[in-house]
Amino acid sequence: MKKISQRLQKIDSMVTIHYQSIWDCCCDHGLLGLSLLKRKSAETIHFVDIVPSLIANIEQLLQQHFSSKSYAQHWQVHCLDVAKIPLTAQNKQLVIIAGVGGELLTSFVEKIITAYQQQCSNDSISWLEFILCPVHHNYQVRQTLIKHNVILLDECIVTENKRFYEIIHVKVQLTNKPPKQEYVSSLSAVGDKMWDFSLNEHQHYLSKTIKHYQRMLLAAPLGEQDKIKTIIEQYSSLFPLVNT
Ligand SMILES: C[S@@+](CC[C@H](N)C(=O)[O-])C[C@H]1O[C@@H](n2cnc3c(N)ncnc32)[C@H](O)[C@@H]1O
Repeated sequence: MKKISQRLQKIDSMVTIHYQSIWDCCCDHGLLGLSLLKRKSAETIHFVDIVPSLIANIEQLLQQHFSSKSYAQHWQVHCLDVAKIPLTAQNKQLVIIAGVGGELLTSFVEKIITAYQQQCSNDSISWLEFILCPVHHNYQVRQTLIKHNVILLDECIVTENKRFYEIIHVKVQLTNKPPKQEYVSSLSAVGDKMWDFSLNEHQHYLSKTIKHYQRMLLAAPLGEQDKIKTIIEQYSSLFPLVNT
């Protein structure tokens, strides 16, 4: 079996409570879900990927190694588009999406929230947790989450193969009623508690991110420029925190 990457190990370590369901979406090799299953971090671990051969491999592996009485009831495999995962209303439910582009990930989150919301009756309030680790477009992912008034639970930066990744753990309140003031998002579009500017790596990641948007600004049509300038300002405003 392949070795679980540092990035996935970090995500694993951020799962600190027991859930009714955890959905390892875009699971590929299934290593994250397998690690969560081994330590029984949920009543049911769901392995989801759209590629049939990947899901067939995972199912075979699960049947070989996790068919004993203590595990067999605790996993399910789904060869499915993540946008269509069949969530049912549950108290403690976590959706993990990692290793896919930020734009695709954003569309998954939107569709999952919309589908789950439709299940909420007028009076019911339900919470859904996400751990998200996009490849690029973190700002856009965060903006979508902020739009849904998510509450930040945890966030961090990990490096893997010289690439930076943000891992964002949030919960969203789903109800048909408008959100109460106290639930207005505590997530920042540019990240907050994840930054540790005593680390050169984090300073480097921030500079790199600002340079990326400065390059985008040079190529952007007039109508897009103000938006990009705002993003640059937001990231640049983090710099005074360096060396404090
Ligand atoms: C690079 S892998 C990520 C694996 C793992 N989550 C990680 O972070 O290392 C991306 C996976 O997403 C799957 N995928 C892409 N689009 C999907 C979709 N719409 N629904 C489900 N899985 C999808 C691919 O088949 C692939 O296995």
